[in-house]
Amino acid sequence: MNGNKFPDGFLWGGATAANQLEGAFDVDGKGLSVADAMPGGKGRFAALGSADFDWSIDESKYTYPNHKGIDHYHRYKEDIALFAEMGFKSYRFSIAWTRIFPLGTEDTPNEAGLAFYEAIVDECLSYGIEPVITISHYEMPLHLAKEFGGWQDRRLVGFYEKFAETVLNRLGQKVTYWMTFNEINSAFHFPALSQGIVPATGGNNKQIIFQAFHHQFLASSLAVKIAKKVNPQIKMGCMIIYGTSYAWDTNPKNQQANLELNQEMNFFCADVQVRGEYPAYTQRIYNKYGFDSIEMEAGDLALLKEFPVEYIGFSYYMSSVVNATDPEAAKAMGNLLSGVKNPFLEASEWGWQIDPAGLRIALNELYGRYEVPLFIVENGLGAIDEVDEDFYVADDYRIDYLRSHIDEMANAIADGVDLIGYTPWGCIDLVSASTGEMSKRYGFIYVDLDDNIEGTGNRYKKKSFDWYQKVIATNGEDL
Ligand code: BG6
Repeated sequence: MNGNKFPDGFLWGGATAANQLEGAFDVDGKGLSVADAMPGGKGRFAALGSADFDWSIDESKYTYPNHKGIDHYHRYKEDIALFAEMGFKSYRFSIAWTRIFPLGTEDTPNEAGLAFYEAIVDECLSYGIEPVITISHYEMPLHLAKEFGGWQDRRLVGFYEKFAETVLNRLGQKVTYWMTFNEINSAFHFPALSQGIVPATGGNNKQIIFQAFHHQFLASSLAVKIAKKVNPQIKMGCMIIYGTSYAWDTNPKNQQANLELNQEMNFFCADVQVRGEYPAYTQRIYNKYGFDSIEMEAGDLALLKEFPVEYIGFSYYMSSVVNATDPEAAKAMGNLLSGVKNPFLEASEWGWQIDPAGLRIALNELYGRYEVPLFIVENGLGAIDEVDEDFYVADDYRIDYLRSHIDEMANAIADGVDLIGYTPWGCIDLVSASTGEMSKRYGFIYVDLDDNIEGTGNRYKKKSFDWYQKVIATNGEDL
């Protein structure tokens, strides 16, 4: 026992996203999503960021591991039973928009899709697991990306509103915690995933990206508005990718550069979604990117003000360092964050800089700024796991990573932060978002599939499974 104290009812659990584990990409009426058109392998981001990428699915050129995923679509009962065995209090998953509206533009939803998510919710509830739903997690309908250019088109607001209304009507009496968009701010670096915008449709034009943000903010507020009507108990959150950012040194130029990066990358979206207002530094960002304004309609700002989100969900994997004065400084790797290498930190096999103390700082920065409940809805270590002859993985490195982060969460709670839950990413092995690999594993549960989704698909408990079970059973006291 370590003396760590977590509040009663703390939402220990795990997190996934539909496109990364469900598979069954064309089953029971599901349409194609942008995730279905994302090539597998380390070249994924390079392909999505290339000038000629047009969302075509070309099986002669690429593999598409998301199409099969880990077949959670057919094995969800087995998976949720394992989550229950670990003692999960919550399970964060997302709804594939294309299971409900295959093209995104239909008037009538696909009943098979709604029934599937209702079955997942009911399965969770039967074990006393609180479902936590991300309405949109990197998987908008492909049709909306191809025909409308993604979120830059204002008509997306209406399509999303219909989608949100449909799922809230169906599940809103059973599910309390929702989030409107996964890692909405990731579009600063990579708009393909969350905005459906690639270079050929304006992905390198920041004015287009900010226009798309505005549409997403409106859609988020409309989801809050609908949720409150459906069930006033619902808590709707935003979800941002947060990377604690340090200035390289005390040079004021680096301090200013770090401040600006924080405002843009870490705070801009949450400022609008939580405070309901564009922050004062917005114009400075627009000017920096060489444009004056974006298009708004009468009533937009009032809508944002009236329906802000109530809590902040965020992912935390790594921190970054800003060095604006030395162009030669060694670069660090990251999924959607970048920066220079921090000499005080170790990095994962994928180069992500591991920084548990940075999580305490993140929690204090976010709570100090917004004073709304915080929910860490992603955290974890992507690693290559070696199985023994019994398919057992002794993943002490993962346990170390999680333990050190949980310790810092406890410190932040002692600092006064209102942290309501923790759902580590990829609680069961699934397809990676940035590289489309199976071999980059985060899970407590090993899934016997390789990067080509070949294997038995059988599930095996890793060492971290038993460890996390104990953590939850002792409410974080025994790490
Ligand atoms: C987050 C995403 O950025 O990081 C997840 O919300 C993603 O979808 C997770 O899987 C881990 O990243 P990766 O690239 O290792 O899968």
